[in-house]
Amino acid sequence: MTIAIEVDNARLVYAAAGSPYPQAPTLVLVHGFPLSRAMWQAQLEGLSPRCRVVAPDLRGYGESSFGDWPAAGETPSLDRYADDLEALIASLQADGPVVLVGFSMGGYIALNMARRCPDAFDALVLMDTRAAADDDTARATRLKMADHIHEWGAARVAELMRPKLFAMDTPERIVQETVAVISATDPAAIAASQLAMAARPDSTGLLGSIAKPTLVVVGEHDAISPSAEMRGIAAAIPGARFVEVPGVGHMAPVEAPEAVNAALAEFAESL
Ligand code: MLT
Repeated sequence: MTIAIEVDNARLVYAAAGSPYPQAPTLVLVHGFPLSRAMWQAQLEGLSPRCRVVAPDLRGYGESSFGDWPAAGETPSLDRYADDLEALIASLQADGPVVLVGFSMGGYIALNMARRCPDAFDALVLMDTRAAADDDTARATRLKMADHIHEWGAARVAELMRPKLFAMDTPERIVQETVAVISATDPAAIAASQLAMAARPDSTGLLGSIAKPTLVVVGEHDAISPSAEMRGIAAAIPGARFVEVPGVGHMAPVEAPEAVNAALAEFAESL
């Protein structure tokens, strides 16, 4: 089922599937850059017998509109996506625990929410993401892409990112599905997210104060958010669990959906 809500002048669209039991956990799956809710198809299908599963398109992505964001002269911030998700979660009126699952850029947004609106969710999953801010080189690369994306087009971004997203032996069919999603992304969403990610603060110091049950998941060969770094994130969050998914890269939820679904279901049902 697809649902649309209005938040601060934007139409936000999300896919919803799952358990009719009011006390079942609600998983809110936040996609990465520059993707869409399409990356969570296997989670929507595989987890919905056990949980309520909600997968939004972030503002400007997929079927969600921009509204009037960003305003002329405004530097985009991850706060915008976080505020949207806070409103979306409130609209769900969940009786059971809300599990915020942030993949990569979605993880940066989840950490933003852990800082600014921790009461919006009951448990946290950080998946293939980072707590550190960008170094100068990474920030410069983002600003260059934001500057040039309208001449480059999203397909060039897909080709630039592709070598970093997957393990060496991930089937080409899976790679091509993700390449197609990136290539269809609105260049304005790419520019806004790159500027927002470049401006995000370092969240390393926040980790020790996260007081929610937390699961950290990473693909063994993740080239963007390395496994060793994510193990460090788990070690810094009190009581956090750590799962490394063998044989896959950054796109663990699409490369190894069964292993990722098993980790998410076990965590959600433990709450
Ligand atoms: C993502 O998958 O969301 C991006 O690779 C994150 C990033 O660009 O840092």
